[in-house]
Amino acid sequence: MQIARTVAEYRALRAASLAARPGLVGVVPTMGYLHEGHQSLMRRARAECGTVVTTIFVNPTQFGPNEDFSRYPRDEARDLAICEAEGVDIVFAPSVEEMYPGGAETTVSVGSLSRILEGAARPGHFDGVATVVTKLFAIAQADRGYFGQKDAQQLMVLRRLAEDLRFPIEVVGCPIIREADGLALSSRNVYLSPEERTQALSLSRGLRGAEALWAEGVRDADALRHRVRHEIEAEPLANIDYVSLADQRTLEELAGPVTAPALLSLAVRFGATRLIDNILIAP
Ligand code: PAJ
Repeated sequence: MQIARTVAEYRALRAASLAARPGLVGVVPTMGYLHEGHQSLMRRARAECGTVVTTIFVNPTQFGPNEDFSRYPRDEARDLAICEAEGVDIVFAPSVEEMYPGGAETTVSVGSLSRILEGAARPGHFDGVATVVTKLFAIAQADRGYFGQKDAQQLMVLRRLAEDLRFPIEVVGCPIIREADGLALSSRNVYLSPEERTQALSLSRGLRGAEALWAEGVRDADALRHRVRHEIEAEPLANIDYVSLADQRTLEELAGPVTAPALLSLAVRFGATRLIDNILIAP
């Protein structure tokens, strides 16, 4: 495994890797502090591509002024060991200066999809994500980019970005990896106190509860949202940002009976820690 700190170093390593292992280049963009969720993306890339690239970059432009950029967990030595173990060929781990030479003048904005739900709760967040992923796509020159369904709206925004900008890259969505007790893996889970960690199980429990109602034939959007809220509101440390049941293509909030594939998603704060989770439901 080779590590590139600059775009020039990356380009040279990519060319050498392609010469040695002709085939697809797959990129797994991350902000580090890697866990099994990230590793599942690397494994999928490893199974499908000749050259697997992982990027590790805590992107300042996608954090709001009162968010956790400076205290976002970082452990590069551990991350590199994980990449090595997963058979990653190249790690691109640039500095902020390398990614934003001369500051952040050019931005990419994906429009309506990025202004609702997570975009409404975190103004500017998806502009930061779209901008950095545009840069990473341009730098990586990969055939496939691997992203988790854990960040369902991000995945939609990035699919749209790749399509609109005509990037020659296939955006591949991968399933959510969870702890055995249901909590979706997240780098931010380390912030949770033991009590918060226990109460955070209400997120996946609520989603599963709604899924069970759905299986019993309940179709009313409010009833399904209510099932999730009810579970989470029972936990004293949980503060709900939103519980949404939205059209899977447009993310428009649904009312009445659900007749098309829908995304049931939520964001919940425990103190300063904000968790997201979701499931897809389809008629
Ligand atoms: P990060 O939060 O590090 O996540 C990197 C990738 O891992 C994303 O595609 C995310 O959806 C996926 N992922 C995280 N937890 C997962 C889980 N439990 N199961 C499956 N996949 C999971 O998302 C970002 O970084 C950034 O916004 C980034 C795209 C790198 C741009 O800065």
